[in-house]
Amino acid sequence: QSAFSFNDEGYMLCEGVKIVDVMAMVAEKKRPFYLYSKSQLTRNYAAYAEALQGTQFIVGYAVKANNNLKILEHLRGMGSSAVLVSGNELQLAMRAGFDPTRCVFNGNGKLLDELILAAKLDVLVNVDSEFDLEQICEAGRISGKQIRVLLRINPDVDPQVHPYVATGNKNSKFGIRNEKLGWFLEQVKHHHDKVKLVGVHCHLGSTISKVNIFRDAAELMVGYIDLIRKEGFEIQYLNIGGGLGIDYYHEGAVYPTPMDLIDTVRDLLTGRDLTLIIEPGRSLVANTAVLVNRVTGVKSNGNKNFIVIDGSMSELIRPSLYSAYQHIELVSPPAAGAKRATFDVVGPVCESSDFLGKDREMAMPERGAGLVVHDAGAYCMAMASTYNLRMRPPEYWVEEDGKTVKKIRHAEDLHDHLRYFDGL
Ligand code: LLP
Repeated sequence: QSAFSFNDEGYMLCEGVKIVDVMAMVAEKKRPFYLYSKSQLTRNYAAYAEALQGTQFIVGYAVKANNNLKILEHLRGMGSSAVLVSGNELQLAMRAGFDPTRCVFNGNGKLLDELILAAKLDVLVNVDSEFDLEQICEAGRISGKQIRVLLRINPDVDPQVHPYVATGNKNSKFGIRNEKLGWFLEQVKHHHDKVKLVGVHCHLGSTISKVNIFRDAAELMVGYIDLIRKEGFEIQYLNIGGGLGIDYYHEGAVYPTPMDLIDTVRDLLTGRDLTLIIEPGRSLVANTAVLVNRVTGVKSNGNKNFIVIDGSMSELIRPSLYSAYQHIELVSPPAAGAKRATFDVVGPVCESSDFLGKDREMAMPERGAGLVVHDAGAYCMAMASTYNLRMRPPEYWVEEDGKTVKKIRHAEDLHDHLRYFDGL
């Protein structure tokens, strides 16, 4: 069941609502906006919860993928926990009501004040390096807490993804080298009043489309757990990170589901009394949203046709940054006799890298037509900028009744920018 589909007249729907109707309805109608399906978010979380039934687990939603407060609150309400990479994300997660003792604080450059906050809240903290452990101990000393830590071990498994989103291979900036494990265990023992080792963590990369990659890493990790337990540590958590990919191409290919992912590691948990932590971001939120744009006009230069829309790399940078493919469709049936052609879909930003899609074949749209970029719920709004003073767009979702449209984030406007100069 997909949140976005076409009705018999050729209009795109979000659940039961025509997107052209939402475009007409929303106040900020002369600009792009994100439109989510709340039901899709529910379905995505339920798929993980179902897959994990019968195991001890924590689903740690990777807040970096999408930090909309309403989305966080909804995930929390369904039982999700949160995985954080900054003090601000941690504070936001608290505001959304997450249980801090089931949250994980990740990162290769965590700062002392962020670690002190994490210590006070009793958040699980991943150790990323020698200096990171030193600083975590410092935070433990200052806060008078024994911080529960997981060692982020770099398993050196190739996730077979774009180099910018690969993290678990040898030359990555993340995690400790497994040859250093002995040194870390000694340090943790030595500083037992400030840190308590409770688990191991790995994260291989993002957009992973083969679950055997998770299996390879999980096998290595339980090997480390068995070894660490022999050293007398009480290990409770196996954290296998996030990274499950989604079908950005919409060509009917079969992608692994949360069930496929958990099935590949399930037997490794048997008899080991471990709580499995997973950190999904993209696979929970990507397909819950589209970026809705309007066609400003169509032009040709030389051999190229361009559809110029009101959305841009400022609202959605993944195509520009990673050459990522995100599917693009018009939300209304083409006008009678509209010719099909191949277009680059571009925004108004003063950069040649400002494109949302290249070489897309579609019917020539009319000016003002609605055009969506799919799978825009992960790493799109969260990575939006105000470049060219394009203020960040508003967000809406269709409620679970399938028909009510509700704003879940206001549009930013020029006043927000001017506020930074107040009193200067
Ligand atoms: N855990 C850790 C430690 C991570 O570094 C990440 C993502 C996740 C979990 C969540 O991974 P996911 O399930 O979303 O793949 N901006 C890029 C993606 C960067 C991912 C960074 N780390 C993109 O737009 O594709």
